[in-house]
Amino acid sequence: MSEKIAIMTSGGDAAGMNPAIKYAATYAKKCGLSPYLVEWGLRGLIEGWVREATPDRLAGIIHRGGTVLGSSRSKRFYEYEFRKQAFENLQHHGITKLIVIGGDGSFSALNQFYADFEVPFAGIPATIDNDIPGTDYCLGVDTALNMIRQSVDSIRDTASSFSRAFVIETMGRHCGYLAITSALANGADVCLVPEVAYDLDSIAERLRMQKKQGQKYVLGIVAEGTGMGDTLTRWMGEALGMDARLTVLGHVQRGGSPTVYDRVMAHNFATAAIDGLLAGERNKVVTFKDGHIGSSSISEIAAAKHIVNPSLVKLCEELSN
Ligand code: F6P
Repeated sequence: MSEKIAIMTSGGDAAGMNPAIKYAATYAKKCGLSPYLVEWGLRGLIEGWVREATPDRLAGIIHRGGTVLGSSRSKRFYEYEFRKQAFENLQHHGITKLIVIGGDGSFSALNQFYADFEVPFAGIPATIDNDIPGTDYCLGVDTALNMIRQSVDSIRDTASSFSRAFVIETMGRHCGYLAITSALANGADVCLVPEVAYDLDSIAERLRMQKKQGQKYVLGIVAEGTGMGDTLTRWMGEALGMDARLTVLGHVQRGGSPTVYDRVMAHNFATAAIDGLLAGERNKVVTFKDGHIGSSSISEIAAAKHIVNPSLVKLCEELSN
C-alpha cells in the first residue's frame, strides 16, 4: 500500500494556493504516494475533515483564486489536547506526511506538531504580504500586485479627471513590499511604508514644485502597516490645497485568478515540497532565493527577521521624502 500524504491550506488565503494543491496532489501521485486533502486548515485537522484527493476534487481549480480547501486561523491548535486530536485523525487515515500551504504562523504551528508527534511536513510559502524570512517570493504576491495595478489604473482615471489627490492603502500587515512595488509599478508620487522614515515637509515641497510644473493630480500609496492612510489624505488636502480622497483596497487584493507567475511558482514549490519529503526532509519550508528553489528549516525562518530587498527600499526613499 502506498504512503499517504495530506495537503492543506492555512492562514490568510492567497492566489496560487489552488494550483499548489493541484500540483502537489498530482505530483505526489506520480511519485507513488496517495494524496489526501484537509479542509478548513488547522481547524479541519482538529475536526478530522480529511478526504482523499480524488480527480474530481482537483478538476477545474487551477484558475481559481482563494483556496478551494478553505482556510482558518485556529487558536485551538496551540493547545496540546487539540494537536493530539489532529494527530489521531491523521493516524485514523494512515497519513504520515503533510504539506501545508500558508504563512509563517502556520509553519510554526506545524513545527510544534512535528515536535509532538514527528509527522514530517513541508511548507509552501503563500501570503500576499511577501514577508516570510528566507524566501524572496510567496504565492499570491504577483496576483495581488496585479490586482493593485488594476485598481490604481482606475483611480488614476478619476484622479486625473477631477485633478484630485488620491491615497491608496495596500495590505501587507507590517511589511511594505506590496506598497513599494506598487508605487514603482504605478508611478506613484508618494509612498509611505513601515521600513522607510518619511518627511512630510520635504514631500510637500516636492509636490508643490511638481504642481507648479503642471502636474494635475497626485497619487500616494501607503502600506496598511503605517496606519497613515487617513492622516496622509487629510494632509495632502491641506498641504496641496487639493481635493483629496482615500481608497483602502482591502481584501480585493487577496482575490482574483492566479497570474501565470503564481501558477508556475505553485508548480515549482509543490514539486520541490514533495521531492524534499521523499528525500527525507522532515520540517522544512520551500524557498525561492536569488532565483533558485531551495528550502529552509523552520528554526532558520523563526530566527530570521524578514527584510524587504534593500534596493527596493532605497527606491522608495525618493517617494517618502
Ligand atoms: O496576511 C495577509 C493579510 O491579508 C494581511 O495583508 C492583512 O493585514 C490581513 O491578512 C487581514 O486579515 P483578515 O483577512 O483576517 O482580515
